[in-house]
Amino acid sequence: MNEQSFVADIAIIGGTGLYQLDGFEELERRKLVTRWGEPSSELILMAANNTRVLFLARHGLQHNIPPHKVNYQANLWALKECGVKKIIAVAAVGGISQNMPPESIVIPEQILDYTYARKQTFFEDSLEQVTHIDFTQPYSAELRQRLLDAAETAIQGATYAITQGPRLETAAEVKKLQRDGADIVGMTGMPEACLARELEMQYACCALVVNWAAGCAGTTKIEHSEMQAIVDKGMVQVKAILKKALL
Ligand code: HPA
Repeated sequence: MNEQSFVADIAIIGGTGLYQLDGFEELERRKLVTRWGEPSSELILMAANNTRVLFLARHGLQHNIPPHKVNYQANLWALKECGVKKIIAVAAVGGISQNMPPESIVIPEQILDYTYARKQTFFEDSLEQVTHIDFTQPYSAELRQRLLDAAETAIQGATYAITQGPRLETAAEVKKLQRDGADIVGMTGMPEACLARELEMQYACCALVVNWAAGCAGTTKIEHSEMQAIVDKGMVQVKAILKKALL
């Protein structure tokens, strides 16, 4: 395959396993290195009929990169270099709002960013001018609608709070997030969303609720094994949504 052939219009950033999408054939894997460093994983190019999709494993193919260590800049830059214009980000999150229990699929509309010490921008050095991107609507309305059309039971209009991690929150922290207006909480939504905006790529998120956030619905402890069971079950649903949204 030649250099030009490793391109796609749309990409999925998500958990390991999502690149085995029913009906899609894997064409090629490539390990890229960008001026911002190495992406979390090699990029996997898949195709079905005339649709080509690139897949990037946010936490690495061995799932060994924690949320605060992900090189978000390299991930977004690598996708941009492969011609990607649209990104569907898949995320596992905790549910805060009563109507977002474990197993819910949520297509968030807004973001509250509580992360710190992550590289948030490409506009830092050797600038001709200072750049402030508009981020009033952090997600692409068009791409969100595409996901909502593909996922009949998905919840819309939610606000996604992104915490630094890697630890989960205290019950008091989740109460604060709730007072701030958050409906779900996760660790990877930022700076992924704003870096995509800086590179002028459409970006939307498909979130799977894998636990009640700390202290919600009487939760006294969050068990990893329970979260994992819901990830395994829920990702089947996410794959079906992705397939429908992509084809
Ligand atoms: N908090 C933060 N991130 C998460 C959670 C949570 O409860 N569940 C899955 N990712």
